[in-house]
Order: sequence, then C-alpha cells, then structure tokens
Amino acid sequence: MEKKPGIFLEAQNITKKFGGITALNNVNINVHTGKVNAIVGENGAGKSTLMKILSGVYPDYEGDLYLNGEKVNFSNPKDAMKKGIAIMHQELNLIPYLSIADNIFLGRELHNALGVLDSKKMHKKTKELLERLNCNLNPKTLVSELRVGEQQLVEIAKALLEEAKLVIMDEPTSAISDSEIEVLFKIIASLKEQGVSILYISHKLDKLRLIADRYIGLRDGNTVGTIENAKEASKEDLIRLMVGRDIKNIYKKDSVDFGDEVLRIENICLPKVINKSTFLLKDINFSVKKGEVLGLFGLMGAGRTELLETLFGLHSKIMSGKIYVENKEVRIKSVRDAIKNGIGLVPEDRKEDGLVLGMEISKNVSMASINNVVKSGFLSTKLEADLSKKYIEALKIKTPSEKQLSKNLSGGNQQKVVLAKWLATSPKVLFLDEPTRGIDVNAKNEIYHLINNLAKKGLGIVVVSSELPEIMAISDRILVLSDTRITGYFDQASANEEAIMKAAVV
Ligand SMILES: Nc1ncnc2c1ncn2[C@@H]1O[C@H](COP(=O)(O)OP(=O)(O)OP(=O)(O)O)[C@@H](O)[C@H]1O
Ligand SMILES: [Mg+2]
Repeated sequence: MEKKPGIFLEAQNITKKFGGITALNNVNINVHTGKVNAIVGENGAGKSTLMKILSGVYPDYEGDLYLNGEKVNFSNPKDAMKKGIAIMHQELNLIPYLSIADNIFLGRELHNALGVLDSKKMHKKTKELLERLNCNLNPKTLVSELRVGEQQLVEIAKALLEEAKLVIMDEPTSAISDSEIEVLFKIIASLKEQGVSILYISHKLDKLRLIADRYIGLRDGNTVGTIENAKEASKEDLIRLMVGRDIKNIYKKDSVDFGDEVLRIENICLPKVINKSTFLLKDINFSVKKGEVLGLFGLMGAGRTELLETLFGLHSKIMSGKIYVENKEVRIKSVRDAIKNGIGLVPEDRKEDGLVLGMEISKNVSMASINNVVKSGFLSTKLEADLSKKYIEALKIKTPSEKQLSKNLSGGNQQKVVLAKWLATSPKVLFLDEPTRGIDVNAKNEIYHLINNLAKKGLGIVVVSSELPEIMAISDRILVLSDTRITGYFDQASANEEAIMKAAVV
C-alpha cells in the first residue's frame, strides 16, 4: 500500500474474537499524523481491545495494519515499540514491589560501559521524566506506596520514556486531578508540535473536548463514524456518535426526605506512620442522615481516600477519634467490623481492593455478603447466580453471563461489578470513592439515579469525586478537604464551582 500523506497508521477490517464474543467487527480507522485522534464509545465498545492490537499486546486478529503505508505485524509490545508505538494502559500495569524507576525501565534497563546496571542514570532520567509532569516523587519509592493517581503519573512517564511516534493513551486522566490533567495536556501539545501522533481515549468528555482534533466512534465493536473537525462538534454531537441517539445528559436529582442521623464522626485524626507528629487527617467532624448524599471534594493528596479508608477500618491501629452509627459508638478495627456495622466502601482502585479478576462475576458480587447466598448452611449457586443477575440487569453490566471471569470485562464494566458487590451487602452507610471512574456518559447517569434511589431507600451516602459538576449534581451537601483538614462546607444553596475550588486550594 502507498504511504498516504498525513496518515501515520491505518487499521483495516480488524476483527477480534474472544471465544464466542466478537469484541471488534471489521473495524477501520486512520490515525492522523501529529493530531490527537480521540476514540469514543460506551463501556465495552471495543476501544481498549483495538488499542491492544495496535500496540502488539494481541498479536492474533483478523485484518491488516499499515504504518506509513507499510504493512506491519507486531508479535509483542516490544515489536510495536521498536516501530515507535508506546501505550499507556487503562488498567495500571505497574509492579507494586518495584520502585518507580525500576518500573519505568523494566525490560529496557540502562547499563554502563562495563555492562553493569546503571541505577544512577536510571534514577536521574526518571526524576527528569517526573519533573516534566510537575511531580516530585522520589524515583526510589516503591509503587505499592503510591496512590492510584500517582501510579497513573508513573504510567504516563513510562510512555514518555521512548521517543515514540504514536502515543496511545487509554483513559490517562481517570485518576488524576485537574492540575495534573493540565500538565498532561501541555505535554500532549508539545508532542504534537514534534509531529507525534496521539490516540486518546477518555470518558471525561469535557476534558477530551479541550484537546481532541478529531473523533472516531466505536459502538459494539463497529466503527460508526468520524467527526473530522472536533472544534465544530458540540458535546451532543459527540454523545450521539458514541451512543447512536440523543440522551438526556443533564441529571436531575429527586429530592429525598432525610431521616435520623445514620453516621457521625468526631475528631478523626490519622497520623503519618513514619512521623507521628504530622498528620494525614486532622480533626475531621461530620454527620450524615438517612437519605442524605454527602459529597467529599478535594484535590489529590487532600486526604479523601484516607478518610474513607479510616472509617472502613483500614487504619485502625493509628487512627483516633469516634465513630457513631445510628447514634451508637462503634469500634471498627477491621473491614469485617465495618461490614458488620453496616458500612460499605466502593474503593477507588478496583484492581487492588475491589475485585478478584480471576473469579466469576457472580463470585465477586456475593463475596462481601455470603449470607445472602447461603441456604441451610450451604452455598447455593442458584442464589448466587440470581443475586448477580439482579445487579447485571440493574447496572447494565455488559457480559454474556454472570459466569464470565471479571478480567474479561471492559474497564467500566469491572467498576460496575465492584459497585454491585457492595450494594449487595445492604449497608446503612455507603462510601463511594470515585464511583464513575472510567464509566461512560450513559452509564454515569444510571449510576447517579442508582445513588438517588439508594438514598430514597434510607441509605446514608458519602461520595468522593474529583469532578465538580458530578459532585454538585449528586450531593445534598458538600464538604471540602484540603491538606488534611475540612476547609469548606456547602449546602445546595451555597454550592458553586468557584467557591468549592477556592476551598480546595486553601
Ligand atoms: N480477554 C477477554 N476475554 C473475553 N472478552 C473480552 C476480553 N477482553 C475484552 N472482552 C470483551 O470485549 C468487549 C470490548 O471490551 P473493551 O475492553 O475493548 O471495551 P472498552 O471500549 O475499552 O470499554 P471501557 O470503556 O469500559 O473501558 C467487551 O464486551 C469485553 O467484555
Ligand atoms: Mg477500555
């Protein structure tokens, strides 16, 4: 095939099947040189699968790939890298017990003249890469000590190490804050200036619209169209390309009558393990009523995740302060205690804490509420199947059956399984840490309605979200955390984006 001007990569008639499931069906796309080519589509549309084919992760598929007009076959990611293709995966792929630098240089270590590993040089280079991202983590820090957002920054740094000609970013912003997104976008702009092509996937449509040059729509494994001039497309055009119809994008919360107080916390403090006189959380007080949705807003590092984890019994040895459920003081020393006292937590990092990827959906859903599926002392596979079917339907989880292994689901659908697992525990208070991370626009609305319905049933809900419009749409009240303390408190009347942001940067 001839080299076509302005086109870096062309994928023709790509079909990919997993057993009986067709993930991609005759997909055709062009990647334009030096442009941000955005791929949009609902959860399970086939976006990540296509990216894995373009980057050599899946060597067997039907169809052809052309790079600058030359036919290519990648047998592994290294092959693709040699041709200038770097990928940042949606699911973070770092090795927890290795340092940041070791992760970045894994498989492409630097050696000195004597053939010995050159750690000094690798640390220096890592430091430079991180600094480019405005991030001052120590290259020697173990990845297991990093928060999800920090891990995402390391993934970005890793993809930037190679002098790539095409950088694929699959949900690069799902866990990082607005200020880091800004840094990333500046880097994307400078890559573009150097003629590097970008393939970019994200469900954060407002942010996506700031950098996309063109859109390619995927639906159920088919290419459904492109929008060549992104600047001319409205958000509605974009949603129509993804979903195939107009959807009401504005969520309107039904009002709920509050009941009695269900959770109250007093003077919660969490010292740092290493230096007990400094704090991760300091004197946190709040309460939640039955039927109320309390939003927790803050920038990365503010302490939001630490707060939910502390109330969930994950830091019981070092925390201090009091927790009351339905006005009775409770001692929560472990996750088991938390569940027993009616507290559920949908964690931020589904891969680490939420989901056993090698297990069936049905096992994952019933895992934290085994009592639901035991009959006369025995585990009932029928009850187990029924329970998960109920949630597959309610949350519209895209899967051939409840027997599917969780690792075979798309990123967004995995997140829904984690949600189902905690809903099944019938908690009194539910903590949701970034519940719509990686979730498509359509499914986001479903989750907002679900939160609203849970509130109507009398649950008290605490939601952490870094998306301001989202937290404003779903919460009755909003608390802002900054630098370990509560720095703002808003009700529906006083909440506006500017005021909340101001409190978050105190
Ligand atoms: N290893 C696998 N085995 C079986 N099915 C798979 C596998 N990987 C993906 N699938 C299926 O292929 C389809 C496409 O998945 P993919 O991960 O590409 O979706 P996606 O567009 O990236 O979605 P999301 O926005 O949720 O990340 C889904 O139905 C998914 O369940
Ligand atoms: Mg995906």
